[in-house]
Amino acid sequence: LGAYYCYASQVASRLEQVEKPSVYSDDEYADVDWDNLGFKIMPADYMYTTRCSKDENFEQGQLSPYGNIELSPSAGALNYGQGLYEGTKAYRTEDGRFLLFRPDQNAMRMKMGAERMCMPSPSIDQFVYAVKQITLANKRWIPPPGKGTLYIRPLLMGSGPILGLGPAPEYTFLVYASSVGNYFKEGSAPLNLFVEEEFVRATPGGAGGVKTSGNYAPVLKALMRAKNRGFSDVLYLDAVKRKNLEEVSSCNIFIVKGNVISTPAANGTILEGITRKSVVEIARDHGYQVEERVIPVDELIDADEVFCTGTAVVVAPVGTVTYQNRRFEFTTGAHSVCQELYSTLVGIQTGVIEDKKGWTIEV
Ligand code: COI
Repeated sequence: LGAYYCYASQVASRLEQVEKPSVYSDDEYADVDWDNLGFKIMPADYMYTTRCSKDENFEQGQLSPYGNIELSPSAGALNYGQGLYEGTKAYRTEDGRFLLFRPDQNAMRMKMGAERMCMPSPSIDQFVYAVKQITLANKRWIPPPGKGTLYIRPLLMGSGPILGLGPAPEYTFLVYASSVGNYFKEGSAPLNLFVEEEFVRATPGGAGGVKTSGNYAPVLKALMRAKNRGFSDVLYLDAVKRKNLEEVSSCNIFIVKGNVISTPAANGTILEGITRKSVVEIARDHGYQVEERVIPVDELIDADEVFCTGTAVVVAPVGTVTYQNRRFEFTTGAHSVCQELYSTLVGIQTGVIEDKKGWTIEV
């Protein structure tokens, strides 16, 4: 216990030092067309990197200019997919403050994922410290209020060389950031989803609940096929019965019927989104009954609303879902449940609504 307190006080003193990285820029804004942000890479000035060997803990890392990294051709991440990523955002408030939203939750998810993928992980404090450093060093890339956010992308990867299948001998924790606007080209207009029946996203006992890069490349084929047909994204069904809703390639899914809001239970095959869990809590606070359960795809027939949640996606209304050549339509718009939850979540994230839950951190 003594060792823990010693470690905790070292971390606390490191966190106090987060105030001003030496690379801090005094410019208020980077030279960016803030009115035309999409979700494309527009790298901010600095990234944060730290490395450790497989039997060590991560040390405090360094900021360096954003740029290519050197990686062994036999790195575990490149050869065997030993890698995780996270997504979190920094927000600029109307009164000029910078807020982070629940970065400790991303840190915990990375820690759990690292355990599943046999990797050492940064501690919660190290992760949050790195995200704060990246925010401060790149604050001129945080868009004006209402125009977008700074999307922060922490990566954890097996960077050491390995030929036989096994955990890599060295690991890299790296954080970079990009100014972003809306994730979908639809902007805030309703999405049109396609229910995928040939491919599945994850199987029971697999790693579908882990934010490993390896869960994202396999969805590309179905995603590109659906996009070519004019859909916004793909809605996956469970791998066993092929009849229950799972998640969308890039986000979680919710359906609304009357006062009941339902979302697929996090049973290991879907990603436990931080936006998902925040929206569940906000909805309950607003008097909705929220059920995390198995949702047969047939329930789309009489759902009032469908919406998606994710860090990148935020809370996005779904206008239609196409399943087996049937197109189901849903209510969207200013008076929808989706809009109510979106406004509350974004209000908290951007400091417009008082954060009574301690979800935001000012940097
Ligand atoms: C996020 O929402 O942060 C994600 O990681 C999803 C990704 C497809 C952009």
